[in-house]
Amino acid sequence: MRGKRVAIVGVGNVGSSVAYSLAMTGSCHEVIIRAKDVDKAKGKALDLSQAAQAARKHTVISVAETLEDVRDCDVVVITAGSPRLPGMSRDDLLLKNAQVMKDIVNVIKVSSPNAVIIPVSNPLDAMVYVALKETGWDRSRVLGMAGILDSARMAHFVYEKLGYGAGQIRCSVMGGHGDDMVPLPRFSTVAGVPLTDLLTWDEINEIVEKTKRGGAEIVELLQDGSAYYAPAKSTALMVEAVLTDTKQIYPCAVMLKGEYGYSDVVSGVPVMIGARGVEKVIEANLNDDQDRKFAKSVGSVKELIEALYTNKFYTR
Ligand code: 2OP
Repeated sequence: MRGKRVAIVGVGNVGSSVAYSLAMTGSCHEVIIRAKDVDKAKGKALDLSQAAQAARKHTVISVAETLEDVRDCDVVVITAGSPRLPGMSRDDLLLKNAQVMKDIVNVIKVSSPNAVIIPVSNPLDAMVYVALKETGWDRSRVLGMAGILDSARMAHFVYEKLGYGAGQIRCSVMGGHGDDMVPLPRFSTVAGVPLTDLLTWDEINEIVEKTKRGGAEIVELLQDGSAYYAPAKSTALMVEAVLTDTKQIYPCAVMLKGEYGYSDVVSGVPVMIGARGVEKVIEANLNDDQDRKFAKSVGSVKELIEALYTNKFYTR
């Protein structure tokens, strides 16, 4: 049996941190990194490979000189694209990164025809949509990373408010990875205790607003790019769930096909991940307030997707 191969397309801060995380856990046989700047990819590969040796892990790090060389991978993570800079919304990146995504997946669908693709570039939900339309693959094999990150950010803010419970906080965020994301306090717990039993609604609402601004806060502080450790760890968890067929539930950006009352739009919802990618889309019961917020978020993603078509970005 051949070992598991994961490609990472784009080795900026997020891509290289995903590679680092996978190498440190030794969760795959080979990580193949691909960047337009091949020397940069080679430098990163050497550094990562030496880190793996230091950690006494077996993961091999290699470089693909072209996208065509990204061959027969089990998972392809796509982080390529412009990052978010101060003052930019994720949506400002739409046209630029959609073209990048389109070019990449059109090669990947041939060079790694059985892969699961995990888009990470922004605006995330629209990028998942582009990857699906361009590959023509079943929705189970294209899943975007955002919900794990947003839920982790919410957990951080819950810890910050409570001052205890770190590592025991389970938060839930649904919807698009944008300003209208939907943090779900009613679905969040600390060691099984509902968040609503531990904090007042004023405190919870503050956490909700901080979660929505979680990415922007880091962009403003860094001044030269966006977050990468938490995005990378969140991505690595998805990769590992696919490689080891864990059947765990994670919030991911997937194409909806009637779930929650929506179709032909990508949004973040809980899904069960296994070797075949998204093996089940889970429909949680939303109350009226949650439902309204989710509808707003879905509407924002739909607008982005329509903006792509009016730009005649693709032909259907
Ligand atoms: C983040 O949320 C920019 O989407 C990226 O950090």
